[in-house]
Amino acid sequence: MDAISVIRTKRDRGELTDEQIDWVIDAYTRGEVADEQMSALAMAILLNGMNRREIARWTAAMIASGERMDFSSLSRPTADKHSTGGVGDKITLPLAPLVAACGAAVPQLSGRGLGHTGGTLDKLESIPGWRALLSNEEMLHVLDTTGAVICAAGDGLAPADKKLYALRDVTGTVEAIPLIASSIMSKKIAEGTGSLVLDVKVGTGAFMKTIEDARELASTMVGLGTDHGVRTVALLTDMSTPLGLTAGNALEVRESVEVLAGGGPSDVVELTIALAREMLDAAGVKDADPAKALADGSAMDVWRRMIAAQGGDPDAPLPTAKEQHVVKAPSSGVLTRLDAYGIGVGAWRLGAGRARKEDPVQAGAGIELHAKPGDTVTEGQPLLTLHTDTPERFDYALQAVAGSYDIAAPGTDFTASPVVLE
Ligand code: URA
Repeated sequence: MDAISVIRTKRDRGELTDEQIDWVIDAYTRGEVADEQMSALAMAILLNGMNRREIARWTAAMIASGERMDFSSLSRPTADKHSTGGVGDKITLPLAPLVAACGAAVPQLSGRGLGHTGGTLDKLESIPGWRALLSNEEMLHVLDTTGAVICAAGDGLAPADKKLYALRDVTGTVEAIPLIASSIMSKKIAEGTGSLVLDVKVGTGAFMKTIEDARELASTMVGLGTDHGVRTVALLTDMSTPLGLTAGNALEVRESVEVLAGGGPSDVVELTIALAREMLDAAGVKDADPAKALADGSAMDVWRRMIAAQGGDPDAPLPTAKEQHVVKAPSSGVLTRLDAYGIGVGAWRLGAGRARKEDPVQAGAGIELHAKPGDTVTEGQPLLTLHTDTPERFDYALQAVAGSYDIAAPGTDFTASPVVLE
């Protein structure tokens, strides 16, 4: 078997055999297939797709590239959630401690930023001292003692995805249903969670731009999870507008803490509670009230213990960017569009995301939103504040956000899209 023949098969719209898939995933994990060969194959898959058999085999091969975890020693049922990636999607941060406060154990393996979408680990790393990398024993210990853990997938868990995820991020090969579904589900199945709620994003800021594609991704992932014995459900949620009022690493941690303190933007609170209900239901936890656990501080208590257990100081001031630039409303009226993709690319260019896989991210970089669709704005009021440590990035980021909002005449009737679509 050789990489070139596998690439040619997919380039020429053929079906990969089980043997080809097993070989290429294994050889890539061992370094025998080079990054440039895997990126050519990823691009061929993005352009020509894979059928359900190929996706199932690709996922199984990625699971088999590493170890599987086992949480059967825990006294509580496990529930995890995974988002397919969005802009301002900080939901994991309040959600994991919230669900733990309601009685399930939440082993939340998370990722780094991918393209214009933010990554949970990049966000949490803006908390001084917090460590994303835990050994399996440490992960189990944090989970057992606090009820929730958010950390990187260890090197032993789906290592094929670890390499491929970083490669896709910088080769324009993220937006492919087979690659997204297998990436997410290989980690979740290997992680050993008993139940899983998928937050499948749809809209300009998501990898799935249409509801049909989002449904296809959701059903592919639910099928993969169910086949491997994980109770898996999916919600389709809106990503045409950024979630909340911040996109960026430390900026989003700040907003998440507001939610845990019983405040925060209504869309973030609504989605956090909706996903918490699904997770508790999938885990079989009855009679828990996530809204109450946010209001009475019990979710905040778990957050503080969880952050501290991973070396973080929940009371430390969060980093802020050195420079700010304010974008003002060009006219008065009703904000009718604030495009998640434009804001995501803007935040990425300001330094919240990476251009090359070895790049660091800036903790303080990102965009604050001062209005959301449906709000009335006045000419000259701040609409967005751009944050970065490197002001030479402002121009490039401003190009991304320039066409990302519309303001209609005062009094225009406008109804914002619901947060949960299906
Ligand atoms: N999240 C993942 O883990 N993988 C993807 O490919 C996209 C989002």
